[in-house]
Amino acid sequence: MKNILITGGAGFIGSHVVRLYTNKYPDYHIFNLDALTYAGNLENLSDVEKMPNYTFLKGDIKDINYINGIFEKYRFDAVIHLAAESHVDRSIVDPNAFIETNVLGTANLLNAFKNLWQGNYEGKLFYHVSTDEVYGALGKEGLFKETTPYDPQSPYSASKAASDHLVRAYGNTYGMPFNISNCSNNYGPNQFPEKLIPLFIHNIRNRKNLPVYGDGQYTRDWLYVTDHAKAIDTVFHTGIRNETYNIGGLNEWANLNLIKLLCEKMDAKLAQPAGTAAELITYVKDRAGHDRRYAIDNTKIQTELGWKPEMTFQEGLEKTVDWYLNNETWLNNVTSGAYQKYYAEMYES
Ligand code: NAD
Ligand code: TYD
Repeated sequence: MKNILITGGAGFIGSHVVRLYTNKYPDYHIFNLDALTYAGNLENLSDVEKMPNYTFLKGDIKDINYINGIFEKYRFDAVIHLAAESHVDRSIVDPNAFIETNVLGTANLLNAFKNLWQGNYEGKLFYHVSTDEVYGALGKEGLFKETTPYDPQSPYSASKAASDHLVRAYGNTYGMPFNISNCSNNYGPNQFPEKLIPLFIHNIRNRKNLPVYGDGQYTRDWLYVTDHAKAIDTVFHTGIRNETYNIGGLNEWANLNLIKLLCEKMDAKLAQPAGTAAELITYVKDRAGHDRRYAIDNTKIQTELGWKPEMTFQEGLEKTVDWYLNNETWLNNVTSGAYQKYYAEMYES
């Protein structure tokens, strides 16, 4: 029996990783540590919560005493670290929250792991889940490779870059076995509706404006969330230790093209005349420091570890739209209260 700590397991990607691991590995005991911020929701894991190999720990990675306590108590063989503040727009408004959780919180986990194993790292692993945004922005050409120099442009990506550097430094200095993966934009069920795709599904459903930043020609490389969870599983089990892997869908979309496709799908699902959803498109002020384009070269993980994306974008988007339309209670729960205030400040001022 191995004890595996997954941080941020009540969030979007983390909940899919927890589900994959609890089902696929009955010999692992999965501890899900999550502070349940606005982005964390245990409803994401209602099918997992009674599994015998699953334990939820409510705690904050910023709380060093709490973190040291659980490492001593449960002696985690491995950590898969996803807990983070993850939304670029929020990082522009409140950068310190990102520095505290993403940088200092990661340092707390690294120190607790180091203090627990004291250099005896046989069979141990610290796996840090990161983003392609650490590489900065691309122009029209080129792809992010693992060797692309870091050039983060937002407080979010800078805080993730700092945490990546810390993980590598602990590997180099203390011999701590680690992996890092840098993934492109995820989409799918359970994503908090502040990110582009779920926000726009929610707004079309409620006949609210679709706020397109700038000229709408910003480009992202979209990957279905369960493909990301499988990639994490692949790196965790077969990755070469202390290596970094880029994960991406080879699926680039300019925002406006993606939004038009989403509008078409929503018109069909809601049985409304073609063009109804697209009428909601509204150009708004651009995001400060908006990165023009992200795109991943995933050759390394494909050729060395045999992972590749399985879900086509058409199918993945269809599943995503269906999930949000069938889970209105989930949406209503997460968009009440504090979120309404955020939305009003962000878009209606
Ligand atoms: P999310 O915002 O949906 O979930 C983050 C989770 O972390 C939430 O459950 C939240 O409660 C928890 N959390 C936040 N602060 C915490 C703290 N101080 N202590 C304990 N728990 C805390 O994020 P996500 O989209 O699922 O992203 C997960 C990870 O993957 C992040 O590290 C992010 O940087 C990375 N990532 C995300 C994407 C993407 O497209 N969403 C792409 C690449 C990498
Ligand atoms: P987002 O989902 O926030 O992911 P990220 O910024 O991490 O890539 O945004 C995806 C793209 O959509 C990005 O170019 C910003 C743009 N966007 C809008 O145009 N309007 C919005 O309301 C949001 C949330 C994003």
